Amino acid sequence: MGFKKFSYCLLSHRFDDMTASCNLVLAGILLRAFTKNHRRGRRVKVPYRFLVLGSDGHGGTIIDSGTTFTFLEIEAFEVVAQEFEMQMAHYRRAANVENQSGLRLCFNISGEKSLLLPELVFHFKGGEKMALPVADYFSFLGDSSTVCMTLVTDGVVELEIAVGSLIILGNFQQQNFYLEYDLENERLGFRKQICK
Ligand SMILES: *[C@@H]1O[C@H](CO)[C@@H](O)[C@H](O)[C@H]1NC(C)=O
Ligand SMILES: *[C@@H]1O[C@H](CO)[C@@H](O)[C@H](O)[C@H]1NC(C)=O
Repeated sequence: MGFKKFSYCLLSHRFDDMTASCNLVLAGILLRAFTKNHRRGRRVKVPYRFLVLGSDGHGGTIIDSGTTFTFLEIEAFEVVAQEFEMQMAHYRRAANVENQSGLRLCFNISGEKSLLLPELVFHFKGGEKMALPVADYFSFLGDSSTVCMTLVTDGVVELEIAVGSLIILGNFQQQNFYLEYDLENERLGFRKQICK
């Protein structure tokens, strides 16, 4: 379409107001991504080849507003899932819910007085960090006695995978973020924002 940049801000999946819609802003103003200090967590290393396009144009990482849950190729998924599993070892795994939902890492939290979930922060090569709100990577299921991680991998949930991408940052993980794609300068900008 010849635009030099475009942006959007995706509403929460909890559609309180079904009439609400997102604005797609074409040729908006570049916003600097902001960062803030977070509690030091454990860094999970994703193989470099997952982040860059191969010479055949396959592989790498894309951001896609049409994919629901972030897809991580099994190798990358496992390192994240194992770390989450370790940090949440004191909760009961809900294997029955995992089987039914196709999601992995579901926990039965009925009777738990408090819920402490691991942080998830995407670290970008340029030094920016995208700290996701918990609702962007965990969802309550059913009567809210179960909480499931909303990252997926091969063989989990039915997926419409874009050609050969190894990591797809899906729209669930973009909720309440303002994202701007500066096509001219090949830069991505983002900031946390309650999208209206
Ligand atoms: C979940 O599915 C696996 C594989 O089909 C099966 O072995 C296991 O018993 C199931 N667990 C529950 C709790 O349904
Ligand atoms: C969660 O655990 C409670 C208490 O053990 C049990 O009654 C309930 O059926 C479990 N929920 C699921 C979804 O498995």
